[in-house]
Amino acid sequence: MSELMDLVQVAKEAGAIMKNAVHMWESVHEKSGHANFATDYDERIQAFLFERLAQLEPEASFLGEEDGHEVFLPEYKKGLVFVVDPIDGTSNFLVGYRPSVVSIGLLKDGRPYRAVVYNPYFDMCFWAEAGKGAFLNGKPVHSSKNSLADSLIVFGTSPYYPDCKEETFRLAAEYLDRCIDLRRSGSAEWDLCSVAAGWAGMFFELRVSLWDYAAGALIVEEAGGKVTDLEGKSLTFEGKSSMLAVSEGVAREEYMP
Ligand code: IPD
Ligand code: CA
Ligand code: CA
Repeated sequence: MSELMDLVQVAKEAGAIMKNAVHMWESVHEKSGHANFATDYDERIQAFLFERLAQLEPEASFLGEEDGHEVFLPEYKKGLVFVVDPIDGTSNFLVGYRPSVVSIGLLKDGRPYRAVVYNPYFDMCFWAEAGKGAFLNGKPVHSSKNSLADSLIVFGTSPYYPDCKEETFRLAAEYLDRCIDLRRSGSAEWDLCSVAAGWAGMFFELRVSLWDYAAGALIVEEAGGKVTDLEGKSLTFEGKSSMLAVSEGVAREEYMP
């Protein structure tokens, strides 16, 4: 069995490929949906992750955003499954806006077991293991104790789903009155880490894929925060979901939309 630090090492090597990338626009291929880009780098980093992680856990299955590995199969409810997003924040990556991250989640019997989110541009690596706390570059992280009124909120726009647009901005307008201000990073995994680190009191997004939250959700919970869908229900970790992550402080109040 691998160690968590083995996953950290793999994420850092993948991050180096991302950081050293050149001529990104020349390697773009558009997927279905609005502005849904993938680059050769997304595919190359995913292939690198699958190869290295398979060496660490030969029994594990793999789910990833690229190359037809995106379907959650019923058998993934048992055993080990890596859920990776080789580049979370591909549009940031293309235009040079930060952050973009490498995300590795490991599910065990259908529940989050280990998680690593690495931002190579800031050289910041979050990791967590179920029941063992969350860390940033080796130091424990805790979500904020601030109230919602004294917190920032980060949110995602579900850019590939036009049907989510209206409700996303209705919620953003509602929450703007209830917090300090809103932020939009362009990486759902980074947003979840921002709640874990205590920088934001809440993250919400109407529809994200499993690889957008498999790692970050564990990191938030291990940092003392709470993650549900936007109706307050527990996540199933089987596929697409809405997302509502809150800090310890916000979890004590009435924070639902
Ligand atoms: C996207 C980012 C973005 C979020 C989208 C995701 P991608 O992932 O996490 O912040 O709003 O919902 O799909 O396409 O850059 O891997
Ligand atoms: Ca993603
Ligand atoms: Ca991606």
